[in-house]
Amino acid sequence: MTPEQNDLLCRVEDDAPMGRLMRQHWIPACMAEEVAESDGAPLRVRLLGENMVVFRDSEGRVGALDELCPHRRASLVFGRNEECGLRCLYHGWKFDVNGNVVDMSSEPEGSHMSNKIKARAYPVIESAGFVWVWMGDPDNVAEFNAPQWSSAPDHKIAIVKMHGACNWAQILEGSIDSSHSSSLHSSNMPTADVEGSTARDGAWLRPSADKSPKIEVEKTTFGFRYAAIRKPIKDADKQDYVRTTLFIAPFTVIIPSNDQYNLSQMLVPVDDENTMFYWVAWHPDEDKGISTDDWRKFCGAEIGKDVEPVTFKKVRTYENNYLQDREAMKAGDFTGIYGIPAQDMAMWESMGAIADRSEDNLGTSDKAIFTFRTQMYRAAQAVAKGEPAIGTTGVVLPHAKLMSYQGMVPKGNDWKEYNISDEERAQRAGNGGAKADAAEEVV
Ligand code: FES
Ligand SMILES: [Fe+2]
Repeated sequence: MTPEQNDLLCRVEDDAPMGRLMRQHWIPACMAEEVAESDGAPLRVRLLGENMVVFRDSEGRVGALDELCPHRRASLVFGRNEECGLRCLYHGWKFDVNGNVVDMSSEPEGSHMSNKIKARAYPVIESAGFVWVWMGDPDNVAEFNAPQWSSAPDHKIAIVKMHGACNWAQILEGSIDSSHSSSLHSSNMPTADVEGSTARDGAWLRPSADKSPKIEVEKTTFGFRYAAIRKPIKDADKQDYVRTTLFIAPFTVIIPSNDQYNLSQMLVPVDDENTMFYWVAWHPDEDKGISTDDWRKFCGAEIGKDVEPVTFKKVRTYENNYLQDREAMKAGDFTGIYGIPAQDMAMWESMGAIADRSEDNLGTSDKAIFTFRTQMYRAAQAVAKGEPAIGTTGVVLPHAKLMSYQGMVPKGNDWKEYNISDEERAQRAGNGGAKADAAEEVV
C-alpha cells in the first residue's frame, strides 16, 4: 500500500475519513461491568482520539460526557458521582447523564446561565455486556444493530479486554488471519483426532495439521466472510476442514466457535496508535459456555494479574519481551509467551505503532488481509467523498444472526452454504450473488 492508502486505512483521529466512517456506527466504550455500580467511580474512556467520562448515576442510567467540564475544562473523571449527576470538583458544576447542568454552585442564585450551557453528552446504549456510544451526528443517530452475542443471556457472555499499543488495523488483520493460528498459537491449538475445534484441558484441539490453508473470500454488504480450508488428518480425500470467519465492518470479527463456546472480537480504536482489544466468548444456552473467570484465566488476561485495572495495559509488554520463556520454548512451547492474546500482541505491537504496509509482502494465505485493506481504505475514500459508511446502506442484516462455521465439509460442497442465515441468503440472492473473492489487483 502507498503511505496515503495506509493513512486512510489506519488513522481515525480528528477529521480522518476512517474516524468519520466509524462515527456512523455505534462504538463500544467499555464493558458494562466497569461501570456496574450506581454512583460508582466514573471511568475515563478514549475513543477515536476523543476523551470522555462514562458513569452510572443514582438511578442506574449510564451517561457518557466529554471528559472536560464546559466551565473551565477540568476533568470530570475526578468528579463526585452522586444524587443523579456528576459534580465537577473545581467549582462544583453538576451534570446529569444527558449533559444538562443541574447545579451551578459558583453562580449567584437566579442566574440563567445553566439553561444556556450543556456538557457534550454522547447517546448511550447498554447491551450485550457493553456500553456503546454514538460519536457521530447527534441528529442522525443510527438504529443500534445488536451484536452476535446479544442472543446470549448476560451471564453467558465472558469478555477479555486488553490494551494494544498499536493501530487498530494491524490488530484486526490478526483476527482475520487464519493461517497464523497454525504457527503462533500452535501450542494452544494442537492437532488431535477430533471432529472439529474442541476445547479441552486448556487447549483448543484441531482435526488438522495443515499450516497453509487455502483462503477463499466472499464479499458481503457487511464486509466479507472467508474460509480457511485445510487438509484434515482423517479422510483428506473425501473432506476438507473448513473454518469461516466474518468481518463485520468496521471493527467486529466473528471467528469460528469451538465445541464449548462461540467467539467474537472487536478491535476498537482508542486513537491512531492505541487499540482496545475485546474478545467475547459466549453461548446462547443457560448451562453452556465459559465463565468470565475461566475465560480470562485461559487467555492470560486476568484483571490485576495480567492486565492493570482501569487501563487494561498488559503486564507482558514489548519492553519486557512479553516475559518470553526461552526454556519453555526448548521444552516444546512454540512461543514461550503465555496466553493467546499476548502472543498476538507481541506480533502486532512489534510492527510499530502504525505498520508500514509498503514494506510487507503478501502471500496467497493473506487473501483476507488483502480484502480487508482494499475494502476498508476504499470505504474510507467513499466517506471522504461524502458517501455513507460501509454497512449502513441498503438492507442492513441483523448482526445477531451472522454466524461463522467450523467443521468438515465433504468435497464438492460449497462452504458458503454453511451456517448462513436466511436473511443473508435472501440478500445474496437479491444481489445476484455477491461476487466471491477479492479482485485481482495490486495494492
Ligand atoms: S471547571 Fe468544572 S466547575 Fe469549573
Ligand atoms: Fe491470534
